Amino acid sequence: MKKFIINGPNKAIKGEINISGAKNSCLPLMAASILFQKKIILKNVPFVKDVLTMKDLLISLGAKVELIKKKKIIIITNKKKHKLIVPYNLVSTMRAGVLTMGPLLARYPKCKIKVALGGGCALGIRDTSWHLSGFKSLGADNSLRKGYVNISSKNGLKGNIFKFPKVTVTGSSNLIMASVFIKGEHIIKNISIEPEVKDLINFLNNSGAQIKFIGRRSLKIIGVNKLINGEHTIIGDRIEAFSYLCVGAITNGRIKVKNINPKYLNTELDMLKKIGYKIGVYGNSIMISPGKKLRPISVKTGPWPQLATDNMPIILAVLTKVPGKSIIEETIFSNRFMAVPELKRMGAKISIKKNKAFIVGQLKLKSADCISSDLRTTFSIILGAISAEGSSSISRIYHGLRGYDNLQNKLKKIGINIRFKK
Ligand code: EPU
Repeated sequence: MKKFIINGPNKAIKGEINISGAKNSCLPLMAASILFQKKIILKNVPFVKDVLTMKDLLISLGAKVELIKKKKIIIITNKKKHKLIVPYNLVSTMRAGVLTMGPLLARYPKCKIKVALGGGCALGIRDTSWHLSGFKSLGADNSLRKGYVNISSKNGLKGNIFKFPKVTVTGSSNLIMASVFIKGEHIIKNISIEPEVKDLINFLNNSGAQIKFIGRRSLKIIGVNKLINGEHTIIGDRIEAFSYLCVGAITNGRIKVKNINPKYLNTELDMLKKIGYKIGVYGNSIMISPGKKLRPISVKTGPWPQLATDNMPIILAVLTKVPGKSIIEETIFSNRFMAVPELKRMGAKISIKKNKAFIVGQLKLKSADCISSDLRTTFSIILGAISAEGSSSISRIYHGLRGYDNLQNKLKKIGINIRFKK
């Protein structure tokens, strides 16, 4: 099994990291290609595993996908009529496969679209019932057969009013894409305003869609006949940027992340300042430097602009080195503390009660053999290994490669003693 071996503890790390395009923007943008009859060009693409799985999914539906890795470009052409079945093997390895539901429904509203239900994942139950209720508000019915949801609309899609019961990121993107060609206008309330959802809206609007914010979390979508000019540069990955800033934090070093809009990380940067780190913002770069005195914090995850649940396992690792008792409350997923047992095996003092983690910091961590169980947990364990004394191994690193672009080389570039072992 492939492993990372990291020799710690790393002294203060100094360096710069170029942040890649956001995986969670790239995936819905690739799915949105289904809405176009001509080719679309995506720039600043992160060539991570999930993006390659989405490529395979689009090809299985009938698209032509060209990757130009050197230029970080993907060209997707959807000239043929699509196959209307999203298979289980692709949805089960990557939850974002459900993002093809909305655009397929928009393009082929009266046909039967079959999408495999992905089931649970490491983070907890990953339901799609709010996506389906959203489609229902447009006039699309659904039924379940042999693990597949069949979606179709006898009379075509028509505008209405729909409110999401709680914020859902891919649910919002799916319903936005489903609504692009409707008859009339659709109002969607309690929409996700994550930067990645706004990136999708910008792409669609620049291509001729009519999607307008009529409140902080409310959208009005007026149906159009077709989309044109599908060209877009993907925004920087705020989770990747925060992860590398935390390499600076945990080693008391100085890291600059480039190609990231600092506004996407307002809450996270305030949190780092509150702990005591120095944060400098220079255009599209952020620099973290050591602080004099570090203090514990009490934080809570939530939909953007609150602390991102994806950044929670990352800050959790940092807090194992911050003196005092910190508290983290997780409000999005039921099972997001999987890094905890691994960090504890390195000697971290963390206890979990319901959806809260209590961390007693400033401990010397010791190396351990660890297993990663999801994408962000991988980076959390990497942070632990960087600050632990001795040689740690991290297996199942394929989880990390699903979403961190060029992970090993980027870590090596800033001086982490990391190698890959088969
Ligand atoms: N939920 C339901 N029913 C639904 C939809 C969502 O109960 O029909 C619940 C979920 O179970 C969860 C909460 O609502 O408890 C929020 O889930 P959401 O739908 O927002 O998550 P998602 O869209 O499936 C995206 C990201 C995740 C990120 C979450 C939260 C993509 C491809 N994935 O997932 O990213 O954690 O939003 O911000 O955009 C990652 O990159 O590591 C990752 C897991």
